[in-house]
Amino acid sequence: MKILVCDPMESSAIKRMRAEGLTVDVRDDITPEELNTVLKDYDGMVVRSRTKVRAPLIDLAPNLKVIVRGGVGLDTIDAEYARAKGITVLNTPLSSSASVAELAIGYMITLARSSHLTTASMKAGKWEKKKFEGDEIGGKILGIVGIGNIGKEVAKRALALGMEVMVYDPYATAPQNLKRASLDELLANADYITFHLPLTDESRNMIGAEAFGKMKGGVRIINCARGGIVDEDALYDALVSGKVAGAALDVFAQEPCQGHKLFSLDQVIGSPHIGAATREAQKRIGAEVADKLIDFYH
Ligand SMILES: NC(=O)c1ccc[n+]([C@@H]2O[C@H](COP(=O)([O-])OP(=O)(O)OC[C@H]3O[C@@H](n4cnc5c(N)ncnc54)[C@H](O)[C@@H]3O)[C@@H](O)[C@H]2O)c1
Repeated sequence: MKILVCDPMESSAIKRMRAEGLTVDVRDDITPEELNTVLKDYDGMVVRSRTKVRAPLIDLAPNLKVIVRGGVGLDTIDAEYARAKGITVLNTPLSSSASVAELAIGYMITLARSSHLTTASMKAGKWEKKKFEGDEIGGKILGIVGIGNIGKEVAKRALALGMEVMVYDPYATAPQNLKRASLDELLANADYITFHLPLTDESRNMIGAEAFGKMKGGVRIINCARGGIVDEDALYDALVSGKVAGAALDVFAQEPCQGHKLFSLDQVIGSPHIGAATREAQKRIGAEVADKLIDFYH
């Protein structure tokens, strides 16, 4: 069985697949044009988020039997199209949950204490002790939109930090210790709102001007799920008006995201889609990809 690894992957995972008899070619900087010509020679492919697997590429790969996405979201793959052609599409749903949850929690504390601004002030040689009065996150209400694998990890950590947790997810059963709410109830009550749902037709721009209008003044927004769930223009306006006190963004409607007007605001912090970029998550992703491919071929 011939597997093409199209994006960077833990070397231990590659070794293990080879030891199990799979032929694994690593082309982790392959261009879309090269992929169009070589994919016909492979039975399986491994991708992360860089390589997009759209219908026209799938049509060029008559021998393809399995696509494994190292990571959670399948929005970079035309998964339904592939499945309709008999191709198995797999992902690694649990491997990055803790890493993303820790990033979201870290962002809440950073926003509450303006750590990005205190650091910049210290680096500028200042000692602005009176300027930076923050908030505790203990005792505050955290609204979690989407209580899947990551949402649950965030909830556990937030409860341990003394937060009250409120959850909106019409499609999942939330653990019993979490208060379920309608979206409007959550928007009206939460001091922090964090998003952990996929980008779908339903969730695209679900948080726009109208939703911001329903929120408490001084709310803080965290999006480590997918760009496009929170409307970036509406978020910018809500930050400028002071309705939203701060926002932390790991994901953007257009990625790479460079020079966005949101980052002209002091109360915005962010990162270049690094939710799963920890050594631990990368190891788990590699191991899970190898397990799934080895299972598939044995
Ligand atoms: N920042 C990163 O690097 C990074 C890393 C991993 C995952 N993610 C993203 O995080 C998101 C959540 O991941 P997960 O592993 O928890 O997924 P999951 O499938 O376990 O959970 C998603 C939850 O969202 C809920 N949901 C779906 N549509 C909804 C809606 N319209 N309103 C409210 N809830 C809705 C589902 O019922 C489910 O419980 C995914 O979009 C994923 O792509 C980002």
